[in-house]
Amino acid sequence: MQIVKLGQTGLDVSRLCLGCMSYGVPDRGAHPWSMNEEESRPFIRKALELGINFFDTANVYSDGTSEEIVGRALRDFADRDEVVIATKVHGRMRPGPNGAGLSRKVIMAEIDNSLKRLGTDYVDLYQIHRWDDQTPIEETMEALHDVVKSGKARYIGASSMYAWQFLKALHTADRNGWTRFVSMQNYLNLLYREEEREMLPLCKAEGIGVIPWSPLARGRLTRDWEESSERSQTDEFGKKLYALTADADQMVVERVAEVAKQRGVPRAQVALAWVLQKSPVTAPIVGATKPHHLEDAVAALTLQLTKEEIISLEAPYVPHPVLGGLS
Ligand SMILES: NC(=O)c1ccc[n+]([C@@H]2O[C@H](COP(=O)([O-])OP(=O)(O)OC[C@H]3O[C@@H](n4cnc5c(N)ncnc54)[C@H](OP(=O)(O)O)[C@@H]3O)[C@@H](O)[C@H]2O)c1
Repeated sequence: MQIVKLGQTGLDVSRLCLGCMSYGVPDRGAHPWSMNEEESRPFIRKALELGINFFDTANVYSDGTSEEIVGRALRDFADRDEVVIATKVHGRMRPGPNGAGLSRKVIMAEIDNSLKRLGTDYVDLYQIHRWDDQTPIEETMEALHDVVKSGKARYIGASSMYAWQFLKALHTADRNGWTRFVSMQNYLNLLYREEEREMLPLCKAEGIGVIPWSPLARGRLTRDWEESSERSQTDEFGKKLYALTADADQMVVERVAEVAKQRGVPRAQVALAWVLQKSPVTAPIVGATKPHHLEDAVAALTLQLTKEEIISLEAPYVPHPVLGGLS
């Protein structure tokens, strides 16, 4: 496994991050396709055996049960000092006032709730899941700084937002001498490349680690367009992501199939290799629901796409409306 630094930090992370959104109690939260604890644990164990030390979850995933499953598995199978645990805050955790968002009150309550569920004294990377229009960014950045200073998080990161918002957050931290975001978890894959306009160049210029989510377009890039899976049929968020530009997206999926056929490798390897080769990506966050998914992800690390292959994969792409929970 390749180990790299996360952005400009000294933190060692594997070139692949295991996304743990598919691990959680299925009838809790918004992911009915998720796998229960018994089914999930072998994936976390296997990821560790393959040299993956970087795990991403969120407070909202399966109503907190993803954090519980991940925390217990890592306690049982890993050395806490070696692994990097990333979680997120912003989504609604309960109805009523102060149940969501990025106010000081929510952040202080949610970091403690996440630590309890994960069964650890600190998380390595505490990320804001989205931008909060209702809370001044100064309040959020100071609260996150205090979380770091209290020892409950080692680093802070952000997830999908507009580039101007991210730069404003970085500037707010710099102006006040507070902890800066070190990473951006954004939506990037062969079916959604809008991040190439502003966010990726910004991250490069600012030395921010880039850890894209859904690098295989939630499985759409791994199979024929008409094919579905248990997950794709029940993935309400995913349905919104791929409805608007279906014709062009389908052509990209066909190109992935062609390159994979010529290479004699599974399509997932080609689609993931494209993300891995996109600068300045640090580590795509992969989802694995079958044992071979992790093996394919590791194989993608050594699949070097040629310039011609990249041109062919990218050619059918058309500009997409802003997606990924921003619109
Ligand atoms: N920050 C955010 O807003 C945000 C949003 C979404 C996700 N995330 C993070 O990103 C992580 C990954 O998201 P994701 O699961 O959507 O990522 P993904 O890697 O794009 O999709 C994973 C899905 O692709 C299919 N797949 C994976 N490997 C395959 C292979 N080798 N061959 C065939 N099919 C394969 C499977 O689909 P089937 O199960 O359908 O077969 C699998 O469930 C999440 O766990 C979470 O940590 C963050």
